[in-house]
Amino acid sequence: MARRAPVLVLVLIGIGLLMNCMITVDAYHEFSAEHYFPGSRFGENKRRVQFYKAPSIAQVDGTFRPPSPVILDSSAPSSPAPSSIREYHVTAYGADPTGQSDSTDAILRAIADAVRGPGNGEMMRGIVNLGGVRIDLEGGIYKISRPLRLPVAGRGNLMIHGGTLRASDNFPTDGYLIDLSASSDLEYIYEFVTLRDLMLDSNFRGGAIQVVDSLRTSIDNCYITHFTTTGIRVQAGHETYIRNCYMGQHITAGADPGEKDFSGTAIILGGNDNAVTDTVIFSAAIGIVIEGQANTLSGVHCYNKATPFGGVGVYLKVPGLTQTRIVNCYLDYTGIVAEDPVQLHISSSFFLGDAFVLLRSIKGVANGVNIVDNMFSGSDQGIEIVQLDEKTSKFKDVKQVIVDRNNVNGMKIKSTIARATVEGNDSSWTVDFSRDLLFPNLIKSVQYSLQATGSQFPNHALRSVTDNRIVITTDRVVPASVTVTVDQ
Ligand SMILES: *[C@@H]1O[C@H](CO)[C@@H](O)[C@H](O)[C@H]1NC(C)=O
Repeated sequence: MARRAPVLVLVLIGIGLLMNCMITVDAYHEFSAEHYFPGSRFGENKRRVQFYKAPSIAQVDGTFRPPSPVILDSSAPSSPAPSSIREYHVTAYGADPTGQSDSTDAILRAIADAVRGPGNGEMMRGIVNLGGVRIDLEGGIYKISRPLRLPVAGRGNLMIHGGTLRASDNFPTDGYLIDLSASSDLEYIYEFVTLRDLMLDSNFRGGAIQVVDSLRTSIDNCYITHFTTTGIRVQAGHETYIRNCYMGQHITAGADPGEKDFSGTAIILGGNDNAVTDTVIFSAAIGIVIEGQANTLSGVHCYNKATPFGGVGVYLKVPGLTQTRIVNCYLDYTGIVAEDPVQLHISSSFFLGDAFVLLRSIKGVANGVNIVDNMFSGSDQGIEIVQLDEKTSKFKDVKQVIVDRNNVNGMKIKSTIARATVEGNDSSWTVDFSRDLLFPNLIKSVQYSLQATGSQFPNHALRSVTDNRIVITTDRVVPASVTVTVDQ
């Protein structure tokens, strides 16, 4: 069916005195080259690599027991693995899967056998490729009285998986259940070690995992609890990927009556290029501390200790060179603290329960900071979504900081970009942005338009930007509306 074409009527609307004016107070700044890479691995001297031969390992002793309480298929191996079999069952070495007796020595023997093999060539220089050898915890619970370390440096492509390690009552309080550290001249001590499907219970004695000077470590699907120091500590090296983990000092599901006493830190990333993804931190004083560059957090849910109790979700302790991306995270009653942020991106994250971002000045630098496209939800207490801590020093070197496009419910919005319109019949218009803008007394650019609704053509000018207040004056009294956009 044919439709009648609509009649288009062009109406010319006389637009009266519309005057636009743009005044730029300052332009954008650029980074200086020295902000890139100092102190990162790019500047490190490549150390001479030494090949490490495994020490001879003591033979399995008389504590041998059948490998498993279940009835095995007749074709399955039933003794400590010969050299051709690359899965080491810890019960075959005498580990007690019921958690009653101490299994430290037995598991260390299984580990020693696993890493002893000749390997299959090299990975990084000096790292023997173990071909994917597995140390299988067979779904048991094992009591451990001292840290599990590999007896040798320079090993790669191995996995410890599938069970629970629990610290004994005399476990050293500064230890880690699994400690990937060794004294070595190698550039990297271990490569591609996978710790998977583990429950690590520190029994309120120390931490769970330490990774030192290692490369491409994978910590996957681990439940880490009862730590008093640090759940996972990564020191130097790079590319430790922590994913799909659940971490809490106390086993709780929120609103815990002991929350104010939560202590310890779930994760410390003391190196570069690491990632924490899809991980929940359900109790600790601090969720994640970042002390290196180019780390990324994604899908991290922190509800470790609420801000009013002194908790921090993510603490960025890399003043002057932050280089951190935090995306798609959930900061739940606990926020983000960033010291002198330089290159920090926080976006697509959800801040619940008055959680906020605190920029803490050390030397007064904030450079290249995006806090954009997040959601903030609070309880109408007037908590600002982004705050400054200038107790040590005022922020005086502020460049390329963008706080904008966040949506806010029950909290006070703060931005580095703001717009407002005032109307009147006057010769002076003041727009006060001090409530909205993040930095006090800092406006780098202003745009305004003055729409005079009468028949007059006033001269007008921007007179002042002091204290985040914009003053525009005309040379006579006119009815006008003035729209101002400012940028810090
Ligand atoms: C604006 O103020 C002037 C001076 O007070 C007055 O003469 C004029 O009528 C006012 N115009 C409007 C539109 O109110």
